[in-house]
Parts: sequence; structure tokens; C-alpha cells
Amino acid sequence: MIKYLVLTGAGISAESGIRTFRDTGGLWEEYPVELVASPEGFAADPKFVWDFYIKRFKQSLEVEPNPGHIALKRLEDALGDKFHLITQNVDGIHRKAGSKRLLEMHGRLDQCYCISCHRQYNMNEIDLAGDVPICTACGSLLRPNIVWFGEVPYYLYEIEEMLKNCEVFMIVGTSGSVYPAAGFVMTAKLFGARTVAINLEKPDNLSFIDEFYQGRAGEILPSFVEKIIGDSNG
Ligand code: OAD
Ligand code: ZN
Repeated sequence: MIKYLVLTGAGISAESGIRTFRDTGGLWEEYPVELVASPEGFAADPKFVWDFYIKRFKQSLEVEPNPGHIALKRLEDALGDKFHLITQNVDGIHRKAGSKRLLEMHGRLDQCYCISCHRQYNMNEIDLAGDVPICTACGSLLRPNIVWFGEVPYYLYEIEEMLKNCEVFMIVGTSGSVYPAAGFVMTAKLFGARTVAINLEKPDNLSFIDEFYQGRAGEILPSFVEKIIGDSNG
């Protein structure tokens, strides 16, 4: 049984300097989501899509974990296998913070793969200054390892099992508007979990949340986590 299952979204990376998607000034305002986050957009203009993800990949190399990421790593250290983290973020910051029990359900900015033979590459093997990168095995186009709209997220089976077997399910920094992740609170609640949200604004799936803490993840999570650790020791 998992004690704490946590789902994070773009909001937890905001305090590390990464833009969210749907807030004012969010990424989807500048880059139409259907152009840079769909298989159709990639087919229409792979160069435009690659430029977008190369920019985000380079930024991800420079950013650092903030107190929110660090608090979740601390909770993992305290709870061990009774903790698990799922993220919709592709920036890799949870990994940088040291989180190990982690599922990156929307893919990773530091990887890409061939659209034909599916061979995987690390971004650091790729010439990012050149034209759209090509598979050395078969000559087809490479694409970023990002789950786009209309595609199925990774690890859904494992996630479902964890949602059905957790005491507390907590969402942090996610608007609760992108499915299937937005529906996880409903599954967890139906199977008996207590549901918690930490978010700057009310998430769209608030009706399935038992406890809502409004504010910044980096400000709320550290003391929140210390309290959980204190309670579980006491
Ligand atoms: P959104 O941009 O939709 O939502 C970010 C949420 O974080 C908003 O509800 C904000 O109020 C909140 N927020 C902002 N700053 C915060 C802070 N410092 N602390 C806490 N909360 C804060 O991002 P996601 O919900 O992650 O998919 O979006 C889900 C998916 O949609 C993404 O994974 C991405 C996107 O399209 C793909 O790229 C496949
Ligand atoms: Zn190939």
C-alpha cells in the first residue's frame, strides 16, 4: 500500500523559472498547442516543432530544483516504497532533485526517438544545430520523446494500480484540465484515498479534492512535508 502518491504538473516547476502552459503568459499563448504538441503539427512542420523542443531542452539543462521539488525528494527519503511520484512535466527537474520512485508520464525533453523504427536517442547524441535530425539506423525523422495530444501517456497501467492502492493522493501545480491525468483524483477517491491539492489557483477537478491548499508549491510543500514526516514518526 502506498501512503503518499503525488502527481505534479507545470506549476511545481514555475518557481524554477519554467513557464506553465495555461496561465496568463503561458506557453500555449505563444505557441499554438496544435502546432507544437500534436502528431499532425509535427507532420506539417517538423522543423518548427523541433526548434520549440530544443529551446525547452536547453532551458531544462540550466534550471534547478526549487523547495517544492526538494520537499518531495525528502518525503520519498522518509517514506521509501510507501511514496511514489508521477509527473506530467518533461523538464526532468524531479530527477535532478534526486527523486527515484518517479514516473514521467508525458515523456522527457532529453530524449527522442525514430518515428519509423522507434530507436531511442539521448538529446546529447543529436546535432541540435543542424536540420531536423534523422535516424542513423533507418534514415527516418526523429521526434522528441514527448507525449502529444491524441497520444497515450506512458505507465497508465502502473499508475492505475497505484491510484487504487494509495492512502493519500496529492496533486501539485496542475490545472486538472488535461486527461487522463486530470481524472486520477476521481479514481483515487473512488477507491478510498484522501485527496489533497496544492495549487496557485483552483484546479478544474476541485470537486474530487478533500483538502485544498491555495498558494505556491515552493512555499507550501516544505512545511507540509515536515508535518507528514513528523506525524508518521510520532
Ligand atoms: P497548466 O499550465 O495547465 O497548469 C499549471 C497549474 O499550476 C495552474 O493551475 C496554476 O494555477 C498552477 N501554478 C502556477 N504556479 C504555481 C506554483 N508556483 N505553485 C503551485 N501551483 C502553481 O499545466 P499542467 O496542469 O501541468 O502536456 O498541464 C498538463 C499538461 O498539459 C502538460 O503536461 C502538457 C500540457 O499540454 C503535454 O505537453 C503533453
Ligand atoms: Zn529509425
